[in-house]
Amino acid sequence: MTGGRGAVSIEPTQHREPAIVRIGHISDVHLADRSRYPRHGITARDCERHSARLARDLLEALLEVGVDHLVVTGDLTLSGEPREFERAAELLRPWADAGRLTVVPGNHDVWTESALDAARFLRAIGADGRGMRRPAPTYPHVAPVGDDVVLVGLDSARWGEDPRATAGRLGGEQLRTARELCRAHQMEGRATILALHHHLVLPRERIPSDRATSRMPLADADQVIRLVADLPVAAVLHGHRHCAFRVDVPGPERPTPVLCAGSVSRASDEPVRRARAFVYQFDAGGLHGVEALVAGTA
Ligand SMILES: [Fe+2]
Ligand SMILES: [Fe+2]
Repeated sequence: MTGGRGAVSIEPTQHREPAIVRIGHISDVHLADRSRYPRHGITARDCERHSARLARDLLEALLEVGVDHLVVTGDLTLSGEPREFERAAELLRPWADAGRLTVVPGNHDVWTESALDAARFLRAIGADGRGMRRPAPTYPHVAPVGDDVVLVGLDSARWGEDPRATAGRLGGEQLRTARELCRAHQMEGRATILALHHHLVLPRERIPSDRATSRMPLADADQVIRLVADLPVAAVLHGHRHCAFRVDVPGPERPTPVLCAGSVSRASDEPVRRARAFVYQFDAGGLHGVEALVAGTA
């Protein structure tokens, strides 16, 4: 067939290169209003374990290396005190203002009944860091990062009479919605990343802080492990344990990395617990790289 007036021209197929996005991950900031302690079973000395300056320095380092989106996996405060939330909001404001922030609450953000009743986390911070004038259920929170990657924030923080022995829980509704989201984005060819506060598994090596976190597990961790086994999840990001680690769990096509960021503010000489932030590279195919920014090693 020859060309000419009226001939249909067909554009050559465009093979779009999968776009890499860079996601920053920090956790367990534990900002403390020192003047308020001792209270809630927490001593004034406990405040010294974490340094706001380390968190600020690592957030600046993330800005310098450049990330498309930042995820904070909970425990922004030491015990959910109002001033602690104010300071957390100040710290994260540049990211929130730029619309590049996803935050999930941790068990310390609902440490007291009053913090929970006043919905302090949602009012001051919320899922996008901008706070909510009228707090309302907001998780799972979906944040697209570029065209090919979707971050799903989940709320595992639960209040309990004895906060040091209270398990986290996602609950059936969040888990069902998370499943639907993973399936829907898979159909669209996007990678889904789950972010929550509590760990799914504790790795075999033990450090003293495991003793505390093992009394506050995620009650329905088995359901998340099952979700990840059934559907392609690019990664699960979490905190809670103040020590960074990676565990790969079985997925339908390939292992899914479960990444704990440790604490971004931990003042520790032990290399394993030193404050750090992470940068991950993702595209529609999953995780392609991990960079660690470690305090005191720049
Ligand atoms: Fe923590
Ligand atoms: Fe925690």
